[in-house]
Amino acid sequence: MKTIGILLSGRGSNFEAIAKNVASGEIPNARIVIVISNRADAGGIETARRLGLEALVIPSKGKVREDHDREVAAALQRHNVDLVCLAGYMRLLSPWFVRQFPHRILNIHPSLLPAFPGLEAQEQAFAYGVKVTGCTVHFVDEELDHGPIIVQKAIPVLDTDDEKSLAARILEQEHIAYSEAINLVLNREFRIVGRRFFGAGNELTK
Ligand code: GAR
Repeated sequence: MKTIGILLSGRGSNFEAIAKNVASGEIPNARIVIVISNRADAGGIETARRLGLEALVIPSKGKVREDHDREVAAALQRHNVDLVCLAGYMRLLSPWFVRQFPHRILNIHPSLLPAFPGLEAQEQAFAYGVKVTGCTVHFVDEELDHGPIIVQKAIPVLDTDDEKSLAARILEQEHIAYSEAINLVLNREFRIVGRRFFGAGNELTK
């Protein structure tokens, strides 16, 4: 059985989609052992408690980045996590933290990287006028929104879209893409050559 730790800062819909797929067996042979938020008011923490998962708030405000990261890493290591999933974790990780979990930290970003890294990627894409956008699940390295790409999903930007409708359609794809990426890295062989990720192939059954 593989163990997943979730880091989040807000609503937690990506976390909830992962939790649902773990419970239904779409992500087989895995369980979420800890959900950590750097914000006490994160909706994802409520959800974790409702689902009976261990939920921990480790406030980041006013702390030196690496000191905070050391507390988070200690909690993850106490739970022996195999994979750390950033699910709307709106805080940069220190290089020290990234080195503790080599090729074991995933992030989801609401654009087709390397386009539109950073905050409010959906709004950036909308304002830029792209005709296609989407989401990316990638390994975390020491640069922002940068590591090797595991899964991307593309969607068209419709003439009828506004920022809200576009973000909502991207989010639907995020909820599929994240579980696919977890399946590709958690229980199977994969290779990374340069920046290129080669997995064993996976489609969610629903
Ligand atoms: C998601 O859209 C995720 O891709 C984004 O934050 C949102 C969190 O929603 N993450 C980033 O922008 C990271 N750079 P959620 O809390 O409902 O999962």
